[in-house]
Amino acid sequence: MDIIRGQIEKIEKFVEARLDSLTWQHTRGIRPIAKKLAGLERADKSIVDVAVLFHDLGKVKGDDGHAARSAEATRRYLEKENFSRRFIEEIVYCVSVHDLPWQNQANLLTTPEAKVLFDADMIQQLSKFGVIRHIMYFQRDIANNFAAGLIKARDALFKAYNLIITENGRQLAEPGYKFVKDFFKDLL
Ligand SMILES: [Fe+2]
Ligand SMILES: [Fe+2]
Repeated sequence: MDIIRGQIEKIEKFVEARLDSLTWQHTRGIRPIAKKLAGLERADKSIVDVAVLFHDLGKVKGDDGHAARSAEATRRYLEKENFSRRFIEEIVYCVSVHDLPWQNQANLLTTPEAKVLFDADMIQQLSKFGVIRHIMYFQRDIANNFAAGLIKARDALFKAYNLIITENGRQLAEPGYKFVKDFFKDLL
């Protein structure tokens, strides 16, 4: 389905105003990756792009259960803006399941769009940005024990790589995975 440019710009503004700068940077960074992967996976690019924009909106209230909170906020926005029923359901579905592979439930991601969102979310983190984000996340562990904390950050990034679902996603992730491996190899 096509979505007109004005609608996308309105969603961008809505999301940017609600996310912290770090999460907005992450969200922006996913979009070109998701667009490329959507092409390779024959996924609907409009559904993927809108799902990417909304996927971490629930993080404003903390990490726990953010996928469900993001999905609710996505539905509220899209219903208010009168998007079609099918479009809303596809996007809300992508957002609501985007954390499940971390709970060993990757099998519940059944649409190409949901898989593309998940993979692009992981690929974006295999980068300089992702290293910064993970070091921030594990800052207490690193302060307590430098090597052990860095290993936690590194292993979370390795897990992100290992959770990638599609073969095309894995190929797109390769350079970033190599960067992360080299970065930590030099430090540890
Ligand atoms: Fe997320
Ligand atoms: Fe994310």
